[in-house]
Amino acid sequence: MKDKKYEVYFGNALKLDEIDNGDISLVVTSPPYYNAPFDYVGLFKDYDEYLDLLKKLAEQLKEKVAPGRIVAIVTDDMLVKGQKYPIVADTTRAFVDAGFRYRERITWLKPKGYVRISKRSGVLMVYPYPMYYYPDNLQESILIFQNGPYEYHDRKQMSKKDIKKNKINLTDYNKGDLYLNTWQITNVLPTKGRLEEGIAAFPDEIVRRLIMFYSHIGETVLDPFLGSGTTMKVAMSMDRSCIGYELDKSLKPIIKKKVNQANKENHKIKFTTKKDAKIMRNIVTTKN
Ligand SMILES: C[S@@+](CC[C@H](N)C(=O)[O-])C[C@H]1O[C@@H](n2cnc3c(N)ncnc32)[C@H](O)[C@@H]1O
Repeated sequence: MKDKKYEVYFGNALKLDEIDNGDISLVVTSPPYYNAPFDYVGLFKDYDEYLDLLKKLAEQLKEKVAPGRIVAIVTDDMLVKGQKYPIVADTTRAFVDAGFRYRERITWLKPKGYVRISKRSGVLMVYPYPMYYYPDNLQESILIFQNGPYEYHDRKQMSKKDIKKNKINLTDYNKGDLYLNTWQITNVLPTKGRLEEGIAAFPDEIVRRLIMFYSHIGETVLDPFLGSGTTMKVAMSMDRSCIGYELDKSLKPIIKKKVNQANKENHKIKFTTKKDAKIMRNIVTTKN
């Protein structure tokens, strides 16, 4: 097995120049939520600019991801200033157009009461008549794209010991309802004082499931929008290598702290700040 490596690049995810083609076994990511009130208001000039990011990301990942392997995108349609943007459909279109197979859409269900933005359903309480139905949103999509057919060669090259280590626990699979395409997982609220404050982080459990189902021990997981570092933390705890890109260099102390929660073997985390890195959240530079 290759030595494990952990590399964080502060810079634009549309320039994954440090990664050789075919070197990535799995991508787990959640792209910026288009100009969402809880993410970066006004990060994108308009929706076309956002679509361009998705298109260019998909084209790059087609090259960087090994044949047959998976890109998992956690995303959701976005309501911005009263207009709903079809981000799930447009992300799917971008990846299919780039040549990926559309394999799955898993629905991530959050617990009742965890609504992040407005309580839209209240509108009907005020006007209890037809045409005023705006349900609150408790779900996101986990889109699974595959880079062509999987040839099963990875397992053929493995020792019996390694095959055993990668076996999925079927009791958990059945008991935890993991055989269903709705995953009920509590979300991370980016509340004051939390490590993830101001970051639209996903929960460890989503990453754990994706890594378990779609990668082997020792392989490399990429997160092009690393945020607080969730993907790297979970990848490390599951004996996978990980590469992350993040535009906002002010997140370095957060990422360091979060990944080190899983760093039982004292792995070195290599940080590189590229010329196109930015400071987008001033508040976090002084914290943690
Ligand atoms: C939805 S958050 C990801 C959160 C992450 N999954 C976590 O658990 O913390 C999206 C991240 O993408 C970053 N970002 C936005 N545009 C980017 C770009 N062009 N290249 C790299 N990162 C970018 C944002 O700064 C933000 O931290």
